[in-house]
Amino acid sequence: MAVDILKISKDAREAAKIYPDVINASIGMFYDEDKAIGGMPTVSNAIKNLLDDEILPYPAVDGGALFKKNLLSWVFGPYEDLMKQSYHMNACATPGGSGAIASTFSVFTKPGEHIFVSDIRWQYERFADRAKLSCFEHELFDGDGFNLASFKQRLDELCEKQHRVIVIVNDPCHNPTGFTLSEKEFIAIIDILNAKVNNEIVFLYDMAYLEFSHEANNRKKISLLPRFLDHVLTVIAFSGSKTFGVYGLRLGAAIYLGRDEKRIQSIHMAFVNEARGSWSATPTASIELFNKFSVEENRQAFHKDLDKINTLVQKRSQSFITQAKQIGLKTHPFRSGFYTVVLTKDPEQDYLKLAEHRIFAVPMNGGVRFALCSLSLKEIDGLPQKIKTILNL
Ligand SMILES: Cc1ncc(COP(=O)(O)O)c(C=O)c1O
Repeated sequence: MAVDILKISKDAREAAKIYPDVINASIGMFYDEDKAIGGMPTVSNAIKNLLDDEILPYPAVDGGALFKKNLLSWVFGPYEDLMKQSYHMNACATPGGSGAIASTFSVFTKPGEHIFVSDIRWQYERFADRAKLSCFEHELFDGDGFNLASFKQRLDELCEKQHRVIVIVNDPCHNPTGFTLSEKEFIAIIDILNAKVNNEIVFLYDMAYLEFSHEANNRKKISLLPRFLDHVLTVIAFSGSKTFGVYGLRLGAAIYLGRDEKRIQSIHMAFVNEARGSWSATPTASIELFNKFSVEENRQAFHKDLDKINTLVQKRSQSFITQAKQIGLKTHPFRSGFYTVVLTKDPEQDYLKLAEHRIFAVPMNGGVRFALCSLSLKEIDGLPQKIKTILNL
């Protein structure tokens, strides 16, 4: 379902200029309780204090040695040593997690091929269209859990007809549902991919919402990646734009992990080439901002801001889900994150009906997605009931 989320969000902002009661739940940007963007003062201040030298020059296409060193430490956290012992690795800065996804498609596929995705998902088809690929779906849920049977069966089918397969897993805080895989589910996915020994698997691990998970240890699953056998290559898509709430300042990276050093070298060249031949280089300001927050003292200050946001977003989600449960409004299984999906029969019509009542949300496969990260607790109070009444659910 290829709707333009940025357009829905713009319509909502236009409507808000006329009507005071607009609810804009269309887009995954954090707004505070007073509807101001920029919930992380440490980040806003760091941007304002960037020097000309940290903004104006061209950066290294891959972000440079310091950026890559900081990136690996940031993403792997306490598992950095384990990962470095287990894998050869390299990385390339990208304009957002989006750049990491687009370039992975470009580096590892040929036009006409399929990518392996869940039936409920973020807009991977946009990147697929550009690379002339199609989506091959498995069912995401089986009751309240991940549908391992469908994942396995559909992957078997695709692996029969295509040798190299990109398998996308968006975790934690899956967009649009807010679902997060358990460790057990993650290991089962690894086992299924490990069994495809006659294929080449690229495990594209989209961790855009890594910092927004409410798991006891949000990096634990990273420590399980070394269980992959040699035919599985991992590409982690990291989003600095989400992590730091700098949505318009494009920041992300692709990190590739494999056991064959030469292959990682050639993959790195392919990513750098792809970057140079499309967006050229990630903004210097983004790279420098990331390097600033990799300094321990700044990182701690950032985490204080982040904790506040995470507590608030979880409070909003809990309020929505509790109210929804009380009135029998059905959602997909939710654990944590920016979004939740209300199940509806005709999402393409339903989101338009909601928009008529000045509630802006996004149609998805099976329902309508609400970005709770951008709503205040006051706006969420009573919202499930309004949705139920408007959509006659
Ligand atoms: C699941 C998922 N992956 C990746 C991204 C890419 O984020 P960005 O390109 O802003 O870093 C998003 C953004 O909404 C997302 O929801």
